[in-house]
Amino acid sequence: MPNDIVFSAKNINKFFGQGKKTVCAVNDVSFDIADEEIVSIVGGSGCGKSVLAKIMLGLYKPDSGSFLYRNKEITNTRDHWNDVQSVFQDPFGCFNQFFSIRSQLKDAFGILKDKPSKQEIEQRVDDALLAVNVKPADIEGKYPFELSGGQMQRMLLARIFALKPKVLIADEPTSMVDACVRANILDYLMKLKVDLGMTIVFITHDIGLAYYVSDRIFIMHESKIVEAGKPEEVTQHPKSQHTVRLLEDIPDINREWIKK
Ligand SMILES: Nc1ncnc2c1ncn2[C@@H]1O[C@H](COP(=O)(O)OP(=O)(O)O)[C@@H](O)[C@H]1O
Ligand SMILES: [Mg+2]
Repeated sequence: MPNDIVFSAKNINKFFGQGKKTVCAVNDVSFDIADEEIVSIVGGSGCGKSVLAKIMLGLYKPDSGSFLYRNKEITNTRDHWNDVQSVFQDPFGCFNQFFSIRSQLKDAFGILKDKPSKQEIEQRVDDALLAVNVKPADIEGKYPFELSGGQMQRMLLARIFALKPKVLIADEPTSMVDACVRANILDYLMKLKVDLGMTIVFITHDIGLAYYVSDRIFIMHESKIVEAGKPEEVTQHPKSQHTVRLLEDIPDINREWIKK
């Protein structure tokens, strides 16, 4: 059912450390994310984006406030990962160098509660590779070190096309690749939403990229969400000085997406 609430955060806080060295990584953050939305979380380095991503993945629990996934607390991460999957910045960190790429794409199905048959897994891996424009024969017998960063980032996305989670958390998936691969990744994210009805949380420091893909944008600064709205509102009529600063930082190559 579209428009159901996927994530609901109410006044969540997350702290690290103790005493005078305590860092507040997420400070009194509240939001709802609906089914089939692409929401971008945009902010500078260290503002709390990845900690928020890890809360959504059930890797961290907030220290206070309420955080619900489809109206329930996340108690079992295995169940949660059946629905919610991630793509991170460093694709090499997500693949083991000593196993072939294809075997790792197949092993990824181990996370699912209803594991498909061997035959279906082979088929879904082939389909997923084709979805990211890779011929299955081209990676046959290949290991991660034999591919470029951009190709590996595609393999991470192929994993998502194969597993078809309901929700994808993409934490700066484009930050280590060149502009051409970056545009491809953004197009694949939109394809995941359009073809599979996936809900996507896209994390980036580039508000130009966020503008291109999002239904809504959340601006984060120093562990708080300082502004949230539709991409046009946030970019054309920014309410926060932090949004204005992020707009000034857009690389020229992405600026053309923001129509004046
Ligand atoms: N496991 C951790 N232990 C201690 N501090 C952490 C940990 N994870 C994140 N932090 C701190 O929380 C803040 C937010 O980090 P993060 O969410 O990674 O920022 P970013 O927006 O760059 O993704 C930073 O000050 C970071 O140093
Ligand atoms: Mg981060």
